[in-house]
Amino acid sequence: MAVREIVDVGDTHEMARDLAEVLPVRVRAPFTASFIRSARLYDEFVHRLVFAVCRASGLAAAVGGAPGTSDEIMARAGLEAGRARMPVDWILRRLSHRGILEQADGEGRPRFRLRAGVPELDPGSVLEAQRREDATWLPSYVLAETVAQDYPAFLRGERTGEEILFSPTRLRLWMDFFSNTNPLYAVNNLVGAGAAQEWLPPAPLTIVELGGGLGSGAAALLEGLRREGRWPDIHEYRFTELVPAFLRRGQHALQTRCPDASFLKFGALDMNLPFETQGVLPRSASLVYAVNTLHVARDLDFTLREIFDVLAPGGRLVVSECIRTTPAQAIYVEFIFNLMETFRTPVLHPTYRPNGGFLTPEQWRGAMDAAGFVEVAVLPDIAAMRARFPDFNVGAVGATRPA
Ligand SMILES: C[S@@+](CC[C@H](N)C(=O)[O-])C[C@H]1O[C@@H](n2cnc3c(N)ncnc32)[C@H](O)[C@@H]1O
Repeated sequence: MAVREIVDVGDTHEMARDLAEVLPVRVRAPFTASFIRSARLYDEFVHRLVFAVCRASGLAAAVGGAPGTSDEIMARAGLEAGRARMPVDWILRRLSHRGILEQADGEGRPRFRLRAGVPELDPGSVLEAQRREDATWLPSYVLAETVAQDYPAFLRGERTGEEILFSPTRLRLWMDFFSNTNPLYAVNNLVGAGAAQEWLPPAPLTIVELGGGLGSGAAALLEGLRREGRWPDIHEYRFTELVPAFLRRGQHALQTRCPDASFLKFGALDMNLPFETQGVLPRSASLVYAVNTLHVARDLDFTLREIFDVLAPGGRLVVSECIRTTPAQAIYVEFIFNLMETFRTPVLHPTYRPNGGFLTPEQWRGAMDAAGFVEVAVLPDIAAMRARFPDFNVGAVGATRPA
């Protein structure tokens, strides 16, 4: 039976104080002691789900024998290598970070071996602790728990991640997740909006948002611009999205929330296709904005070059992203997003896109430099912070098309 072990989240007041000293004023507010406690609880919740997935999928037994590479362990468990490689690799790195696996680096490929056993810890007690701490985090728990049930079938190749994540009955889960009332996700919107406000020059704004989804990122940016008196500067805010159901709901949400925003325009846009043929003209935007979208570009270089072209000279790209502090870091939300093929298998580049998923600050800089951008910056400066805050993973990357 799973053990209801108490979760030790450490001294989060001290951590919040330390963070407040280094975070820029515009992005500081959400990172309270309670937020940090919730983030640590969620990390533990995902760990416990992963333990259960390991047992149910046969991974726990497969890693219990002789040391093996992730490919060898997948083969022993009878998992579907093409689809399962990245998620299994992520699971093994997480278990090894937690001290459950021993990791030896041989011939460029790490080999894993179970130290004792995969713990049986009850995720429900973490959920209860979260409910007491701050119940607004629960949509993130529901999403991870729902996904966990289908993980073994996914790893065995019986169901695609897209079927699991985006079945019509699960739209509600996404509406609750991509929301400014869900603190885990809202921080991306607040950091993005804060960075855009920090970096935008005092001039008229023609904004194109990519992957606007259900509209929470746009709502946070528009509210920030309104607070700073920039509303009259907004000439146009073009909200774009690939998935029609998201676009419709995003449009409805924004028009309801901002009935006076006559500058809002809505349209479909696939960032993997030329922007001009989709109605977004070269040199037409002063800001291209995206929240947690660019890391699923099929070919990041292509999309960055399209963005470069639609920016007017001097125009700014601002992307809010979940950012890895080290290339091998296994971040909790990847448990969910590793199911998506677009997340796992983008076009690779040896230096700035060596793998799918989230990028490090250096990889973002490399990708933006390669596309011709200048003044590339990350806010907050995750590279400068990571020695003290190795799990601080939210940042906005800004870059300018040279004048
Ligand atoms: C993390 S979500 C962004 C959520 C959004 N900020 C919100 O508040 O709802 C990423 C979005 O990128 C969209 N997306 C995925 N592939 C895309 C593509 N090729 N072109 C444009 N958008 C895409 C997804 O449909 C999703 O809405």
